Amino acid sequence: MTPPIDFKGQRALVTGGASGIGAETARLLLELNARVVLCDLAGDRVQQACDKLGAHGAVQGDVAVEADADRMVAEASDALGGIDLVFNAAGIGDDLVPLHEQSTKHWRRVFDVSLWGTLLISRAAGRLMVEQRSGAMVNVSSIVGLDAFPGRSAYGVAKAGVGHLTKTLACEWGEYGIRVNAIAPAYTKTPMVKDLLERKVFDPGVIERRTPLARMAETEEMAKAAVFLFSDWASYVTGVVLPVDGGWSAYGASGDVVKIRHATD
Ligand SMILES: NC(=O)c1ccc[n+]([C@@H]2O[C@H](COP(=O)([O-])OP(=O)(O)OC[C@H]3O[C@@H](n4cnc5c(N)ncnc54)[C@H](O)[C@@H]3O)[C@@H](O)[C@H]2O)c1
Repeated sequence: MTPPIDFKGQRALVTGGASGIGAETARLLLELNARVVLCDLAGDRVQQACDKLGAHGAVQGDVAVEADADRMVAEASDALGGIDLVFNAAGIGDDLVPLHEQSTKHWRRVFDVSLWGTLLISRAAGRLMVEQRSGAMVNVSSIVGLDAFPGRSAYGVAKAGVGHLTKTLACEWGEYGIRVNAIAPAYTKTPMVKDLLERKVFDPGVIERRTPLARMAETEEMAKAAVFLFSDWASYVTGVVLPVDGGWSAYGASGDVVKIRHATD
């Protein structure tokens, strides 16, 4: 019998752990017996999430600041006695603004949190994992990192970079028994997306129409995909950027050009 997924004895660091996809993945890792430390920029919210989930520690810091990233990994490792699993979920959304109207400050911040932050946490945790010759990492890319989304150059370039970093680290660290994968979510009902919907940056009806499964995702659907990639069930999977997108990236956006005719029409 193939054993069910169980992370007993595994020690996990989750960035962006105070909210959304990070918090839900932390919850599922805990349910499956991992020990988890949450890291987040929002110190009060990460402590609250830690208390609510029954996690094993909360660390405040900015993943995009090298000293913070190194400290968060060191504090998480101290609290857990090492690190086996890393989920890089910290990220911020952006507005639909074309590049010629973007400020350098806005562009750099979106880019730095998603790509530079993922890189810094991965490097610090990777040093520990290379030494122990084991580990698994799951990064969070996006459908916006798979194809061009007008108005989202900072986010898209960063998330494409996360995908490329994922493949590169998988190749660099395979010989140490470390697997590195990513999920590429589509629109998921998290506080980040609720904020964008409230500010009318997106129209939910248009998103649902463009999505083959015709709905937005629940955070749990992202967590399940990430947990699969962490688990032994994915023991031969590395360097993969897995779309978890209800078919979004499979769809060629033919729009009204192609109209399906059913046999009954
Ligand atoms: N929600 C979606 O539809 C969607 C789609 C594709 C990808 N993503 C990605 O999923 C990840 C999680 O997003 P979410 O929707 O759960 O958002 P969220 O806003 O609910 O959670 C993100 C968390 O990251 C934290 N954070 C932000 N900047 C940080 C920093 N510099 N250092 C440390 N922590 C920081 C926030 O405080 C927050 O708790 C992000 O990387 C996001 O880009 C989300």
